[in-house]
Amino acid sequence: MSRSLLKALVSSLALATAGLLIAAPASAAGDPVRGKVLGYTCLGCHGIESYKNAYPTYSVPKLRGQHAEYIVAALNEYRASERGHATMHAHASTLSPQDMQDVAAYLSGTEVKTAGSEPVGKPPAAVATCQACHGRDGVGIMGMYPSLSGQHADYLAHALEDYRKGARKNAIMAPFAAQLKPEEVQEVAEYFSRQKPSLQTVPKIEKALTASK
Ligand code: HEC
Ligand code: HEC
Repeated sequence: MSRSLLKALVSSLALATAGLLIAAPASAAGDPVRGKVLGYTCLGCHGIESYKNAYPTYSVPKLRGQHAEYIVAALNEYRASERGHATMHAHASTLSPQDMQDVAAYLSGTEVKTAGSEPVGKPPAAVATCQACHGRDGVGIMGMYPSLSGQHADYLAHALEDYRKGARKNAIMAPFAAQLKPEEVQEVAEYFSRQKPSLQTVPKIEKALTASK
C-alpha cells in the first residue's frame, strides 16, 4: 500500500472512531483496589525492571501509564489467540470482563498524558504516519491507541514483526506494520522508546490506592 493511501486510511479510521465514541461511551472505569489483588501474579514479569521473555528474548512490556482501555483490548486479543503468546493466553483466559477492567485500572495507574512538547530526537521519515494515532511524542491520542513512549525498543520491534508476519492479527495495525522496511522497524522502535513522558514498569510497592480513580 502507498503512503498516501495509508494517510487516507488514517483519516477515515479517525472519523469512524469518532463516530464510535459518540455511539458507545467508554464503560465505567475498573476498580484498581480489586485489580491489585488480581494483578499480583502479573508482577512476576510486569513488575520487574527490564525483565525478559525467553525464546525469543525481548523485554516484557511496560504497563504503568498505558491506557487502561488498550490493556483490556490486548488481554481480549491474547484470550482469543489473535496474538500469539502462550503465557499471556493462559493468564488472559482466567480473567472475566470485569476482572480485565479492574486489573487494567490497577496496572495502568495514572495514564501518561502528552506533554505537547517537542519530540526527543529527530523523527525518522517512517514515523510520520504513526503519529496520527500514537501521537507526536508516542502518547496514544485515544484509549484504544497504545502509548509507545518510553516502551522498550526491543519489545516494540518484536510487536511490529508480529503484525508483519500475522502472529498478531489486528486489522488496523497490519497495513501500517507491513509498509515498514526492515531497517525502519528498528528506527521507529528506537524513536518511540526515547520519547517522554515514559511508560514505566509497574512498581511492586504501591502508594495508597483508592477505588475512585
Ligand atoms: C511469565 C511472564 C508474564 C506474566 C506472569 C504476565 N505477563 Fe503479560 N506479558 C508478558 C510478555 C512477554 C508480553 C509480551 C507478549 C507479546 O509479545 O505479545 C506480555 C504482554 C502483556 C500485555 C500487552 C501489553 C502491550 O503493550 O500490548 C498486557 C496488557 C499484559 N501482558 C497484561 C498482563 C496481565 C494482566 C497479567 C496478569 C494477569 C500478565 N500480563 C502476566 C509476560 C507476562
Ligand atoms: C490508525 C491508527 C494507527 C496508526 C496510523 C498506527 N497505529 Fe500502531 N496501533 C494502533 C492500534 C489500534 C494498536 C493496537 C493493536 C492491537 O490491539 O494489537 C496499535 C499497536 C501498535 C504497536 C504495539 C504496541 C504494544 O504495546 O504492543 C506498535 C509497536 C505500533 N502500533 C507501532 C506503530 C507504528 C510504528 C506505526 C507507523 C508505521 C503505527 N503504529 C501506526 C493504531 C495505529
